[in-house]
Amino acid sequence: MIIKTTDLVKRFGDTLAVDHVNLGITQGEIFGLLGPNGAGKTTTINMLVGLTSPDAGEVAIFGKKANGHNNEVRRNVGIVPQELAIYEDLTARENVTFFARLYGLKGEQLQTQVSQALEFTGLADREKQFPKKFSGGMKRRLNIACAIAHQPKLIIMDEPTVGIDPQSRNHILDSVRLLNKQGATVLYTSHYMEEVEELCSRVAIMDQGRIIAQGTKEELKALVAEEERIVIELSAVNYTLVDELKAVGGVNEATIAENTVTLLATKNTVSIGRVVDVINATGSDVLSLNVEKPTLESVFLTLTGKKLRD
Ligand SMILES: Nc1ncnc2c1ncn2[C@@H]1O[C@H](COP(=O)(O)OP(=O)(O)O)[C@@H](O)[C@H]1O
Ligand SMILES: [Mg+2]
Repeated sequence: MIIKTTDLVKRFGDTLAVDHVNLGITQGEIFGLLGPNGAGKTTTINMLVGLTSPDAGEVAIFGKKANGHNNEVRRNVGIVPQELAIYEDLTARENVTFFARLYGLKGEQLQTQVSQALEFTGLADREKQFPKKFSGGMKRRLNIACAIAHQPKLIIMDEPTVGIDPQSRNHILDSVRLLNKQGATVLYTSHYMEEVEELCSRVAIMDQGRIIAQGTKEELKALVAEEERIVIELSAVNYTLVDELKAVGGVNEATIAENTVTLLATKNTVSIGRVVDVINATGSDVLSLNVEKPTLESVFLTLTGKKLRD
């Protein structure tokens, strides 16, 4: 385990920001911490890296109890904070150099790795510019460059794509994948279900300070998904069709609205070919057919009764 927390608790006054959180992140994975605003993600991360001290519970990083003052931990962890941490009156290169020094780099290695980080984040040709001229997405990328120049084994990213253009967003998601391929373990927090779905192998879903589910995406979806929805658009509707479709093995429910049929079916049991045959036998053609699989959004909805983004 690269990170292990045991019953981590943090209160702010009456707010229980983090409520007995147990997380386990293993080497080499991209782990997603998914939850709405105010769930407690940033507070959890701050305790992982020693920026906030827990009221109760423990954090272990690289198998050692963390206290925020451990040099080995500092040199091997890179943090991309939610709030941009860059200096407007330093150039892009000076910013990255400043952070790389803090993380312990010196001399030739410092210069080489700063150049690599700027290159990696697509900022090499802007290294002499000041970040006040940068777009939101470029500032985010600079924020990332500052966190990775020392080539950490563990990279923690706190909502790195909030409020930026799609191009920078894609650049950042590609970067996360590449950093992971190069060997870094990544802890990625987001309230964007799609990003976590796309990037992460294992996920913890957090709400109101608590981890409400944790596991692989498939394990989480299996929590909620006994049924799938099959939505079929038809050229024409024959009203005996509903009964005929209900008779197909695995179909539990069939409804028609205008020329669209919706089937509720036990997961992976229905023969789509059989469904199409039944429809064709009534003289109708299938214009489109969509099997809607459960998403992390539906997991969140089922476990909390609310939408991830309200
Ligand atoms: N420094 C603080 N003082 C008081 N309340 C805080 C502070 N930091 C966070 N909180 C509260 O703790 C809860 C969790 O916040 P946070 O960890 O920032 O959530 P997230 O990162 O998931 O949006 C929220 O209710 C937030 O208002
Ligand atoms: Mg946050």
